[in-house]
Formats: sequence, structure tokens, C-alpha cells
Amino acid sequence: MKLMPLYSFLQGDLSKIEKALEQAVQSRSSLIEESSLHLLQAGGKRIRPVFVLLSGQFGSYNSEKMRNAAVALEMIHMASLVHDDVIDEAHVRRGRPTIKAKWDNRVAMYVGDYMFARSLDIYTLINDPLAHKILANTMVELVVGEIKQIEAKYRFDQHLKDYFRRIKRKTALLIAASCQIGAIVGNVEPDIHRKLYRFGYYVGMAYQITDDILDFTGTEEQLGKPAGGDLLQGNITLPVLLATKDQNFRSKLERVHEGMDPSELNDIITYIQTNGSIEKSWEISNRYLQKALQVLDELPKNKANKALRNIALYIGKRDH
Ligand code: IPE
Ligand code: IPE
Ligand code: MG
Ligand code: MG
Repeated sequence: MKLMPLYSFLQGDLSKIEKALEQAVQSRSSLIEESSLHLLQAGGKRIRPVFVLLSGQFGSYNSEKMRNAAVALEMIHMASLVHDDVIDEAHVRRGRPTIKAKWDNRVAMYVGDYMFARSLDIYTLINDPLAHKILANTMVELVVGEIKQIEAKYRFDQHLKDYFRRIKRKTALLIAASCQIGAIVGNVEPDIHRKLYRFGYYVGMAYQITDDILDFTGTEEQLGKPAGGDLLQGNITLPVLLATKDQNFRSKLERVHEGMDPSELNDIITYIQTNGSIEKSWEISNRYLQKALQVLDELPKNKANKALRNIALYIGKRDH
């Protein structure tokens, strides 16, 4: 299933956003420009710009203003990916070598910083203190989420609550902010932009849960990034936490460490894939999606509302 047909009426704006993104990473440094374009031109779902544009449609939609907000949000997302790949020692992203792999960690550090800075430069065109406050808080939380994930590595005694807090910070809040900022830039009234924020939060939670499920069920070909790395790296996600209810399994799990015997790790992964944890994780993701759909019921009925509904339904079934 493809995302694009769900919002084909945005096609014109989205292709202008692509051009604006390419312009945004132009630099006097060919190293910065080349490495940024390397990630940018590999594609990506551009889900955050889509949420910005659709949320703006609940108000007085001005293409140029919406574009600035959308470009800023996508660039913050991309910056966080460049840094995340350093933290996660990831070698492939969007079907291509990561910046850290093709260049090195130092280059990735500064390219990520450059993207953050360019993003904020473009975002200054938005003349609304609330929009700036929301984005700044979101970036603070994102960093805290990534740091908490480092602190929680290989900690099999953590609670579900720790996981949900972490993914809220590292993923859901940026999606919530994309919705709310899109609405604010579209002059949507506060009651409605707050509802769009809640919609984005619920969808964002489901989005990261799905990403974590796909790490156990997907293939590199589908995902554009290798599957199966989370557990080996000590990133304890929902399917693993649900499986720890079984005490026997939990003691096996506590032996997981970097550089462990691949066949022992494979046994553990197979258990998680087959003991019902994946199905339970989908159920939890679907509960978030149901909440997101309930929020949409409280919003005006228009084509943006319908597109948001379809995206939420897509996330409940996505395989990449
Ligand atoms: C990847 O985000 C990291 C998560 C928050 C799950 P996306 O799945 O939106 O990545 P791209 O932009 O499509 O590559
Ligand atoms: C999402 O985390 C990345 C950020 C929120 C910065 P992951 O580490 O789960 O995402 P992938 O799997 O690398 O895309
Ligand atoms: Mg990560
Ligand atoms: Mg990662």
C-alpha cells in the first residue's frame, strides 16, 4: 500500500517542498551539501510535511507559509536521523549508506547540526511565538528521549511506562508538533490546533510502535534499513517488553549483549516473533490509532480530515 494516493491533492505543494528542501541544504561547503543531498534524495516518507500541510487545511491555507513550516519540520526530522544513526551505529538508511558510514561520525555530527540550524533559519519566517515555543520544546524533548534510550540500554527490568515515555519524546511529539504548527501557521483556532496536536501525538505513538514491530518482522528491502538491530544493540522495545512476562525467557534475555553468538540471538528473536508479542504490539498500536480517529471525529469534516483518517489507517497496516 502506498501513502501518496491518500493525499494526492497535495502533490503540487509537496513537489515544491522537495525543491525547497534541496535549496535549504545548499552550502558553501561541498561536503555539507553533498552529504545532505545524499540523505535527502534517498527519499523518505515525508510524513511530517504531510501532517503540516493537512493540518493547515483546517484554516486559511497559504502555500508559501505552509511550505516554510513543512521544510523546517522535515529538516529537523532529518537532522535527528543523521545523529540517531551515529548513536545507533546504523550503516544503512533509506536504502543508502548513512552519512556516518559513507563519511564518518564527525561529519555526521556537523551535518546534523547544519540541518538543525538551516531548519531554524527557515523557521524564522514564521512570525508566531507560540509556534517557536512548541518547536523548541519538542526539540528539547526529542534529545531527552534519545538520551533516555541510551541510559535504558540492555535494561531488561524497565517498565512499559519507560518505553512509552521514551517514544513519546523521541517520535510522537515531533509528529504532534507538525500537526499543531501546521494548524497555527494556517491560523486555525486554538481549540482545533490543540486537537490536531492530540491527533499527532496518538498517531506518532503508533508510528514508533510500528517501527519497533517492523524491526522484528520486516526485511531490509522493505524498510530501507536493516531489521533486527534493536535488540542486539540493547534498545528494548515493546515486543521485547511484552515477552518479558515469561520468567524463563527473561533470564535468557538478560544474556543479550553486543557481540553475542548470532544463533543464540536468533533463538531469542524467533521467540519474540512467535510468542504473540508482535500481535499484542499491533493491538496497542491500534488502540492509539483508535484514539487518533476519535479526535478526528471532533474536527470539521473536510478532505484533510479524510486524508488524516486514511494515513492513520495506513499506519495500522504499514510494512515499511
Ligand atoms: C524514522 O522515521 C524514525 C522514526 C521516528 C520511526 P520515518 O519512518 O518517518 O523515516 P523516513 O523519513 O520515512 O525515512
Ligand atoms: C527514531 O528512533 C529516531 C529518532 C526519533 C531520532 P529509531 O532509532 O527507532 O529509528 P530508526 O529505526 O533508526 O529509523
Ligand atoms: Mg535510535
Ligand atoms: Mg536508529
